[in-house]
Amino acid sequence: MNSYHNKKVKINIKSISKSYEEIEVLKNISIKVYESEFVSILGPSGCGKSTIFNIVANLIDYSSGSISIDGRLSYMYQKDLLLPHKTIIDNVSLPLTIKKEKGFRKKNLKKREAHKKVKDYFTTFGLSGYENKYPRELSGGMKQRANFLRTFINSNDIMLLDEPFGALDSITKSSMQKWLLEVKNKVNSTILLITHDIDEAIMLSDRIYVISKKPAVVKKEFIIDKNYYNDDNLENIIKLKKDIVSLL
Ligand SMILES: Nc1ncnc2c1ncn2[C@@H]1O[C@H](COP(=O)(O)OP(=O)(O)O)[C@@H](O)[C@H]1O
Ligand SMILES: [Mg+2]
Repeated sequence: MNSYHNKKVKINIKSISKSYEEIEVLKNISIKVYESEFVSILGPSGCGKSTIFNIVANLIDYSSGSISIDGRLSYMYQKDLLLPHKTIIDNVSLPLTIKKEKGFRKKNLKKREAHKKVKDYFTTFGLSGYENKYPRELSGGMKQRANFLRTFINSNDIMLLDEPFGALDSITKSSMQKWLLEVKNKVNSTILLITHDIDEAIMLSDRIYVISKKPAVVKKEFIIDKNYYNDDNLENIIKLKKDIVSLL
C-alpha cells in the first residue's frame, strides 16, 4: 500500500461536481490514479461514469472542483469507432497518419512508415493475421482488440477505457478480460477503466472506486490483492463481491 507514496499521480480528480441543467450527476468525485496502475470506476448504468471520462478528456465542462493530468491521454469510447472502409492496420495507424488534432500538427507519418511502427503490436495484441481485413470481417471481440490497439497507439501513457466489453456476449467478454489482463502485464500504461461489471473490476484492477447511482458519489475505494485470482482464493473474492454489492 505504501508503495503508492513514491509513485507519480497521473490523474488527479478533486471534488468534481457536475450538473446538466437542474439534474445533478456528479457530486464531489475525487479519484487518483498512480503511474502504471490499473484503476476501475464501478457503478450502475446511468450514474455518470462516461461523464467523468468526458470531463477528464476535457470534452465537457464541470460545475466545480479541479482536475490535473500528468501525461498524454487516449480515450476508448463506449461505442466501436473503427472506420468500416479502412483495413484494420489502417484503422490502427490512424493516430499516426491523421494530419491534425484540435488544431495542432501531429506526427503525420506516411502510411508505410505508420504500418511499420504498428506492425509488431499486432502480435502483442493477438491481432496477427488480421492486418489487412476490414472491420466487418472481424468478430466483436477482435474488433475491440483493434479498437484497444488503436487507442494504445494514440497514447500508451494514460488510457481511458469506457466499458470496452459492454457490448460483447458473456463468453467473448470473459476471454477478452483475460486477454486484457495479459496485455496489461506486457505494457506499462496507466489505465482507468469504467465498468458496471463487478467481476471484471475485481479481475483487472489494482484499485476500484465504487460509485453510487446518480448523483454519483464515491462510496468506497478497494485495493485488490493480486493473489486473489492467482490463488483461486474464492472465499476472499466472494466476500469482496458481497462488500461491493452491498454498496450498490
Ligand atoms: N448531454 C447531456 N445532457 C443532459 N443529461 C445528460 C447528458 N449526458 C448525460 N446525461 C445524463 O447524465 C447521467 C449520466 O450519464 P452517463 O455519464 O452517460 O452515465 P453512465 O456512463 O454511468 O451510464 C444520465 O442520467 C444521463 O441521462
Ligand atoms: Mg457510459
